[in-house]
Amino acid sequence: MIEWHYPRTELAQQYMNAFDTGITGALALFAPRRMGKTEFILLDLAVEAESRGYQVAYCSFWNLQDNPAKALRLALDGIKKSGYWREKWHAYTESISSEISAEIGGANVKLKSRPSTPAGEDELLEIINLLGKLSRERRPTLLLLDEVQHLSNERFASLVATLRTQFDEHRKKLHVVYTGSSRDGLQRMFRDRKAPMFHAAQQVDFPDLDSKFVAFMLQAFEKASQRKLSLARATQIFNTMNRNPALFHHLLRHMVIKGIWDIKKGYENFQALVDVEADHQLLWDDCKPIDKAVLKLLVQSPQFGLYTEEARSFIGNEIGTEGVSIKEVQNAVKRLRESQVLYSPSRGEWLLEDPQFRNWILSHIGS
Ligand SMILES: Nc1ncnc2c1ncn2[C@@H]1O[C@H](COP(=O)(O)OP(=O)(O)O)[C@@H](O)[C@H]1O
Ligand SMILES: [Mg+2]
Repeated sequence: MIEWHYPRTELAQQYMNAFDTGITGALALFAPRRMGKTEFILLDLAVEAESRGYQVAYCSFWNLQDNPAKALRLALDGIKKSGYWREKWHAYTESISSEISAEIGGANVKLKSRPSTPAGEDELLEIINLLGKLSRERRPTLLLLDEVQHLSNERFASLVATLRTQFDEHRKKLHVVYTGSSRDGLQRMFRDRKAPMFHAAQQVDFPDLDSKFVAFMLQAFEKASQRKLSLARATQIFNTMNRNPALFHHLLRHMVIKGIWDIKKGYENFQALVDVEADHQLLWDDCKPIDKAVLKLLVQSPQFGLYTEEARSFIGNEIGTEGVSIKEVQNAVKRLRESQVLYSPSRGEWLLEDPQFRNWILSHIGS
């Protein structure tokens, strides 16, 4: 078996050092979707933590969106099973009821579907009980909470409140890493005074992969095909893909299967066949005309702001009406935020969550 996972051991050590030296008790990692967060926490961070004597639990709130308390309880249950982290993680994914399949480190784990029960008192009490037990043990615990922005929904306020108190109480023995692909969702949770569960967390921009990743992937490619690719050209293409490791990995697989040994040709062929932009087109088609106009404005003329006269006449021009009210623009922003297209890094500033979508809009403007 060829190893396609590029290890990010140094980064894992850096984060674990922050815990071990008491710099912080919790970290929150942000990056857009498909940038390697899950692979990093499962295959690098968890392994590093385990080698330092930690017990590790992983929970994705995306897997069980309707019942995050249950997802967490199952993850905590699994911690006590004997065996290495990797086996425990597989056991966890099997116990989760959902219809999605997770692809991690090349292994595809299909998850079974079962109707989920609503999160009740019992589930919360059990979580409190399990966290209490863990914190009384000699070994520290690392909790990996993936796609945590799903907790920002009002419905999960009681779970969030429970976690806040528990993490605070056990902060010496219990470290937490949150990840989220919606900066906005996560930041809302950080800021919301009703949910200060993340106050203690250090917010970190999860770093992009670089040319060392490309070099590693080219080695794997060489093992699979006995062909060498130019690192400089491959890195160029990786950069034009906005350093998206998922797309780059796809491209290399595509080349091996098709027997294309020139990465430029491979990329052209890949683009023509695999519609890497399909998602963007779908997202765009789903937007109301005014939402599209707001996006165009943000991409093309961000200096106008969103609510100024100029901004609103830009939007009006786009949709063919004269007066666009502030309220209408606010509603469009709200929709775009809820569909995780926009996020706000600071008050009054709005950015596109996905830089690729931004580029896509730029190249489709006017059409
Ligand atoms: N360290 C890595 N080495 C090799 N491929 C990677 C690595 N990190 C990510 N990838 C590729 O990118 C894909 C998406 O990564 P993932 O961790 O699921 O992203 P995220 O959790 O940020 O959405 C993986 O399925 C894999 O193909
Ligand atoms: Mg993920």
